Amino acid sequence: MITPEELLKQAENAMHLAYAPYSNFKVGAALLCSDGTVFTGCNVENASYGVTNCAERTALFKAVSEGHTEFEAIAIVGGHDGNPEDFCFPCGTCRQALSEFVGGDFSFFFKNGEGETKECTMKELLPSSFNLH
Ligand code: THU
Repeated sequence: MITPEELLKQAENAMHLAYAPYSNFKVGAALLCSDGTVFTGCNVENASYGVTNCAERTALFKAVSEGHTEFEAIAIVGGHDGNPEDFCFPCGTCRQALSEFVGGDFSFFFKNGEGETKECTMKELLPSSFNLH
């Protein structure tokens, strides 16, 4: 099974593909499926700013649209001009989008510019989340 470090490396590679000419803030994500498949994603901005898609949802939508709906973890790396100085936590929309498919123990991995890593779970990042059950 892939390690958190390897997943973070894939997120970093995806970050360099970000299309972010408006904010220059580049984000990469690598989403690990339960069968071991990894889908990567980057943010894709638009001149109509609200049309922008975050890296995490790019990875999620790639995976779901190819038949993968069971996930273990996601690695996220991002920063100005592609320099990930701080940990890059997912926005609320991406937390909610991921929560559609995962339980509270789903893992998030982060890495900052010092090379420090951090791990947390969906229930920590999105407590008391909305669902229809
Ligand atoms: N961004 C992401 O890709 N993921 C997040 O979770 C937060 C923000 C992107 C969107 C936009 O292109 C840039 O970062 C600045 O907000």
